[in-house]
Amino acid sequence: MSPAGLPRHKMAPSRALHRPSLLATAAALLLLILPPSAAAAVPAPALFIFGDSLVDAGNNDYLVTLSKANGPPYGIDFESSGGNGKPTGRFTNGMTIADIMGESLGQKSLAPPFLAPNSSAAITSSGINYGSGSSGIFDDTGSFYIGRIPLGQQVSYFANTRSQMLETMDEEAVADFFSKALFVIVAGSNDILEFLSPSVPFLGREKPDDPSHFQDALVSNLTFYLKELSELGARKFVVSDVGPLGCIPYVRALEFMPAGQCSASANRVTEGYNRKLRRMVEKMNREMGPESKFVYTDTYRIVMAIIQNHRQYGFDDALDPCCGGSFPLPPFLCIGAVANRSSSTLCSDRSKYVFWDAFHPTEAANLIVAGKLLDGDAAAAWPINVRELSQYEHK
Ligand SMILES: *[C@@H]1O[C@H](CO)[C@@H](O)[C@H](O)[C@H]1NC(C)=O
Ligand SMILES: *[C@@H]1O[C@H](CO)[C@@H](O)[C@H](O)[C@H]1NC(C)=O
Ligand SMILES: *[C@@H]1O[C@H](CO)[C@@H](O)[C@H](O)[C@H]1NC(C)=O
Repeated sequence: MSPAGLPRHKMAPSRALHRPSLLATAAALLLLILPPSAAAAVPAPALFIFGDSLVDAGNNDYLVTLSKANGPPYGIDFESSGGNGKPTGRFTNGMTIADIMGESLGQKSLAPPFLAPNSSAAITSSGINYGSGSSGIFDDTGSFYIGRIPLGQQVSYFANTRSQMLETMDEEAVADFFSKALFVIVAGSNDILEFLSPSVPFLGREKPDDPSHFQDALVSNLTFYLKELSELGARKFVVSDVGPLGCIPYVRALEFMPAGQCSASANRVTEGYNRKLRRMVEKMNREMGPESKFVYTDTYRIVMAIIQNHRQYGFDDALDPCCGGSFPLPPFLCIGAVANRSSSTLCSDRSKYVFWDAFHPTEAANLIVAGKLLDGDAAAAWPINVRELSQYEHK
């Protein structure tokens, strides 16, 4: 027996034992270094985004409407996708929750607004954003603002997008593409805000006085549109609840809430809607799973936790808008505030405010919320989180 034989023989199993652990260490390091999407080597999904100003990426810039975010300081912190701090039509200082999701899932460029020229060039790489400020689930929501794209019209636009794709791709390829894409729906806030607001007589709009019937009709209309999207090929849905509307600066002013307090009645109407919405999502998963997967996101709970523990989350101000002046200063107009830098209507540190304007969160708040929806537990996104949904393989 050669003296070298024994050690060699002994080395082999020992090396074999070490190899996997080295690989595991390397994998763990990669996970630390690379964003999760890159480590998992899953291509970034396309995002088809529907809803209101919480996700509008510039569609309203192409409409005749009072609901626009096309002037400074909107977009002042928007650096993504070649942004330069100029307004993008987004109703916040930077990225929306849908933008952050797209970026975190590995998108190289964000889903462009449907109405932007040449937006169809991005369909297969990024998806399309149909969101429109002041729009609602109901067709007539937001009529005060004149131009907007109601949810039903957004779904029709998606049908157009699909037809356009079928001109160059075969049906199977289109179906396969849509089955991997995420369909993000963020709607309902404006419908509830109108329900809560004093009725506007000259619009001849009968305000329903029973929140329960109103909530049912809203969920039922939304279900109808989700089913339409499903018939058009959508398989992975992110269905957002409505955040704590009783805490937004607009509602607190409308209801003359004392400093530091949210409107309990507005929050009750919102919570009632969210409960019904969640039951609907549960039912859709039962009826249409596992071919289709619906994820309910609980932004209400997340935003409420941020407001209640705002210092822990790094915010100085939980309830006042960064832009547009604080209650009781009316009327919360944010556009143009930056033209006059000496003005008191733009806060000095945007990262310290939960609310950007009277209606919308700051990018700082959006980053926290989106992070929880992407990677959080079942209390944030249910039954699986958004990243899991993006990797979900249909049975
Ligand atoms: C439209 O998109 C295509 C593909 O991305 C690009 O090559 C072309 O330059 C775009 N045209 C305009 C006018 O932006
Ligand atoms: C949508 O809501 C309206 C009430 O505003 C109701 O009359 C209608 O039946 C609903 N449509 C669906 C499909 O649920
Ligand atoms: C900026 O605001 C101050 C205080 O309201 C005002 O006196 C001044 O005229 C404004 N400047 C411009 C350029 O609007």
